[in-house]
Amino acid sequence: MAPLKGLILSGGKGTRLRPITHTSAKQLIPVANRPVLFYGVQAMADAGIEEVGIIIAPETGPEIQAVAGDGSQFGVRITYITQDEPAGLAHAVLTAEPFLGDAPFVMYLGDNLLQGGIQELVAAFRANAPDALILLTPVDDPEHYGVAELQDGRVVSLAEKPPAPRTNLALVGVYMFTAGIHDAARAIEPSSRGELEITDAIQHLVDSGRRVEPHVVRGWWKDTGRLADMLEANRLILDVIEKRVDGELTDSQVDGRVVVEPGATLLRATVRGPAIIGAGTHLEDCYVGPYSAIGENCVVERAEIEHSILLAGAEVRGLDGRMESSLLGRNVKIGRSGRQPRAYRFMVGDSSEIEIL
Ligand code: DAU
Repeated sequence: MAPLKGLILSGGKGTRLRPITHTSAKQLIPVANRPVLFYGVQAMADAGIEEVGIIIAPETGPEIQAVAGDGSQFGVRITYITQDEPAGLAHAVLTAEPFLGDAPFVMYLGDNLLQGGIQELVAAFRANAPDALILLTPVDDPEHYGVAELQDGRVVSLAEKPPAPRTNLALVGVYMFTAGIHDAARAIEPSSRGELEITDAIQHLVDSGRRVEPHVVRGWWKDTGRLADMLEANRLILDVIEKRVDGELTDSQVDGRVVVEPGATLLRATVRGPAIIGAGTHLEDCYVGPYSAIGENCVVERAEIEHSILLAGAEVRGLDGRMESSLLGRNVKIGRSGRQPRAYRFMVGDSSEIEIL
């Protein structure tokens, strides 16, 4: 078999994660302080894939290119492929056809996270040589995903976000294809949401008698498209980090699995893991609780934070209550001045959500 290539889809709009995605690509939101996208690239590198194409949108592409670079940090070669419009996953595949050529390839949605990588799947793909291999997992809300129906271990039908799903088997955002997928993508029509759906292209393979093999994933899988999923992904990754304290601690306490990056400073702070504190961040008279990922150069002072993600440069000061299950964008500042009369004063961007519990 020709060497496998990798295709990561990091275009699209990210509407469900606004306002963060007004200014930044959703695939760059950090999970345990690493952009979501990096987990996909790493999974490909670990599976021995050397050539990786990344689909980017014109608006957010340059930022992705700046962060992921030429791929040498992962040991792969990255080619960036601009998709002019988010016209669907199958449209993205067609856009990448000049890069992919006749090669079989792994397609990984840039906002997905799959525990355990893809090595085992690549091995199954090589051993059984199907026309396509899809990953499935049972979910409680299949109507939000592509849904597959199986018969005798074979895929018989697929539907994209069906209002009345026939099974609870969701399509995970990692697929393996042979070059036949390009003709299938050309043969289909846009769906009711106006996109060329990869789900329909796979159905076309099934209908033309091609062999589409299902593989039910054993570990966890997350589509990080919504805030709750993002926090959950953060929790799952933090659960497996190893303790490493490289920052400077003064009258501070670090319990359990905690990473404190070099250049971080803790003064009278308590951090209870699993948690990660980014380089250059300052914690003072505060508590950072389990499942928190504090990015680089943040400040947390006289506050309590738990189960939250802070992007680089965010500052939280003087909160009376504990902040929880929150996602703060880059350079966001939240604080209490201590002045009287006490009041709330906000300057908040479009589509932001603030809840005072
Ligand atoms: O997460 C799994 C689900 O992903 C599957 O169950 C569905 O069958 C599949 O259609 C897909 O659904 P989503 O609605 O979640 O896809 P989303 O629009 O979020 O796009 C997934 C990734 O692909 C995301 O990183 C953005 C990127 N993308 C998306 C589109 C529509 C592109 O690069 N180009 C595009 O045209």
